[in-house]
Amino acid sequence: MNILVAGATGYLGRYLVNTLLADGQQVRVLVRDASKLTGAGPYHSPKIDPNSVDVFEGDLTKPASLEGVCSGIDVVISAAGLTRNSYGHSFHDVDYLGNKHLLEEAERAGVQKFTYIHVLHGEQTDAGILKAKIKFCEELKQSSLPSVIIRPTGYYSDLTNVLDLAASGWMFLVGDGQARMNPIHGKDLAAFTVHHALHSTGMFDVGGPRVYTYDEIALLALRVHGKKERVMHLPAQPILVIAWLLKYVQPHKADLIKFFVLSMLTDGIGERFGDEDLETFFHQYAQSEESGEWT
Ligand SMILES: NC(=O)c1ccc[n+]([C@@H]2O[C@H](COP(=O)([O-])OP(=O)(O)OC[C@H]3O[C@@H](n4cnc5c(N)ncnc54)[C@H](OP(=O)(O)O)[C@@H]3O)[C@@H](O)[C@H]2O)c1
Repeated sequence: MNILVAGATGYLGRYLVNTLLADGQQVRVLVRDASKLTGAGPYHSPKIDPNSVDVFEGDLTKPASLEGVCSGIDVVISAAGLTRNSYGHSFHDVDYLGNKHLLEEAERAGVQKFTYIHVLHGEQTDAGILKAKIKFCEELKQSSLPSVIIRPTGYYSDLTNVLDLAASGWMFLVGDGQARMNPIHGKDLAAFTVHHALHSTGMFDVGGPRVYTYDEIALLALRVHGKKERVMHLPAQPILVIAWLLKYVQPHKADLIKFFVLSMLTDGIGERFGDEDLETFFHQYAQSEESGEWT
């Protein structure tokens, strides 16, 4: 099949492309900057050989740049969205409007299916990132195209924030640390997503193979760095007030803080899937930070 991957230069997108290629699919990638493909990706996600894919340069916030991107495509998979950086845009601009522009192109080109990477339990909080994603999912469900919506828990890549904090020997968590989640590796999530993109329609909640409390993840991160197992629990309310104040100067950062705080207070457990181990990932990541090499 001919598959378009949007967000191919990102953490998940790179695993998606490599999983599709290994499965024998023809892949087109929608990227803003093709030169990024050949370098290592965020959190040691894999490189992409530009000769193995059809490269289309475009920007989701510029609909004219997307013209023709879905021509000849059977299935679209969008892992495109704002995460760590805003690039001067809001979640509404990219996660909602940007993906809507891509959906309109997909409808015009008559693709068979549109697959979108959402967030697990997104409806439980009102952070801007979630509002934008929920709004796009509503558009997708109302569109003329069959759809797949994947709602993953947190990625291993995101938990490197906890690991980085643990390196200092201090660990702070918001709330009592008892909320549970099963984080997932990009490679496992890509396998799950590709399977459903090719064979199903509907909405699927997914996480990694093991369920942890936030306390357990924090203790694991401290152990990996050989630090004393000491976790301090902070009340959520003052941090939410700080995020509320911050939104007037740094709205993107403020919104992410709100999202992470609220996530730490709520269970987020999807279907247990995959076999990549969090402890192994933490050790690899910590060693690579010291040596500069990924083994
Ligand atoms: N990280 C998590 O824990 C987590 C959990 C659940 C769901 N998700 C969702 O999963 C998706 C993938 O996450 P990730 O961690 O792989 O994100 P990521 O590494 O930040 O990748 C995001 C991708 O979107 C692309 N993108 C951003 N703005 C764009 C634009 N205007 N036009 C075209 N492409 C654009 C980026 O391109 P550039 O390389 O050019 O910037 C990049 O390829 C996101 O939608 C995220 O919200 C993430």
